[in-house]
Amino acid sequence: MHKVTLIPGDGIGPEISAAVRAVFAAAAAPVAWEVAYAGQAGLDRCGDPLPAATLDSIRANKVALKGPLTTQVGAGYRSINVTLRQAFDLYCNLRPVKSLPGVRSRYGNIDLVIFRENTEDLYAGVEHRVGRDAAEAIKIITREASARIAQAAFAYAAQHGRKRVTAVHKANIMKLSDGLFLAAAREVAALYPAIRFDEVIVDNLCMQLVLRPEQYDVLLAPNLYGDIISDLGAGLVGGLGLVPAANIGEGGAIFEAVHGTAPDIAGQDAANPAALLLSAAMLLDYLGEAATAQRIRAALEAVLAEGRAVTPDLGGSATTTAMTQAIIGKL
Ligand code: NAI
Repeated sequence: MHKVTLIPGDGIGPEISAAVRAVFAAAAAPVAWEVAYAGQAGLDRCGDPLPAATLDSIRANKVALKGPLTTQVGAGYRSINVTLRQAFDLYCNLRPVKSLPGVRSRYGNIDLVIFRENTEDLYAGVEHRVGRDAAEAIKIITREASARIAQAAFAYAAQHGRKRVTAVHKANIMKLSDGLFLAAAREVAALYPAIRFDEVIVDNLCMQLVLRPEQYDVLLAPNLYGDIISDLGAGLVGGLGLVPAANIGEGGAIFEAVHGTAPDIAGQDAANPAALLLSAAMLLDYLGEAATAQRIRAALEAVLAEGRAVTPDLGGSATTTAMTQAIIGKL
């Protein structure tokens, strides 16, 4: 039995977390959940958006599944997501973007994986005001962080039979910072001669992803571009309700859906549980429980392919509860 921290999260988080728990129980997945709170729920229950008990739980278990957390825009407490990534040095954000059966999308055969550097770049949180009418944010790129995310991307490519890694950048403008990211990626690429390496400027990549996304295999990006192309990728395969993510470091990992708290549908039993469930399946892979992960993915795919018991974001009219029961029925 693996002990795993479960942070249900805010907004739709508790609903989709309950769905994952129900599917895991039905699949007899060997996971014992330890529930902990963060974000608005942390503030409401413990008076702290990131309570010490939550940090202790993740530190002890080394593996967590996290629902979406409310982040106030332009004010308020610092993003808990960013804080967690930095606290546990979860430098590798891994986001598979894969076409799913039965899901309405313009594209049918996308299978790409995004490796996003997770600890620095403009998200390092180094911002300050300069007088009343100006503000500066500092973009931090180091060789060490760039090399380790490149290493993670190439190691994954080698292990999973992927043929090509494409580094994403804007080094034509940011010659020093993005230039250093590219230089580090090239050094790592030289160690993997069997894997094709190329580079693409981020704005061109956005156009290419919309025109011919199937041409890409593994994308390697610094933090900000990686964040943006991840949502673009989610849109290519049917939306935010379908895309999982992992934040991985040397000593642990936090799995989460790419989407946010969806305040517009929270509490309505209308949220799509697929993204958090696919994230939970990645967690099982990470724990070495690949067979159970595969059974859960197959059950979800069967429900999506039939298209009867799916939530409104996928064009259906099922509730979260009904979709979850349908997935359990396929196990
Ligand atoms: P959002 O992802 O919450 O919502 C965007 C749109 O997608 C909404 O129309 C929503 O209903 C829909 N949507 C998202 N997930 C869905 C699901 N599972 N099923 C069906 N529809 C779904 O993004 P938004 O509105 O920009 O952010 C809301 C809050 O979430 C903010 O406080 C933001 O900071 C936070 N957030 C948290 C994240 C995290 O904890 N990882 C990631 C992104 C945003």
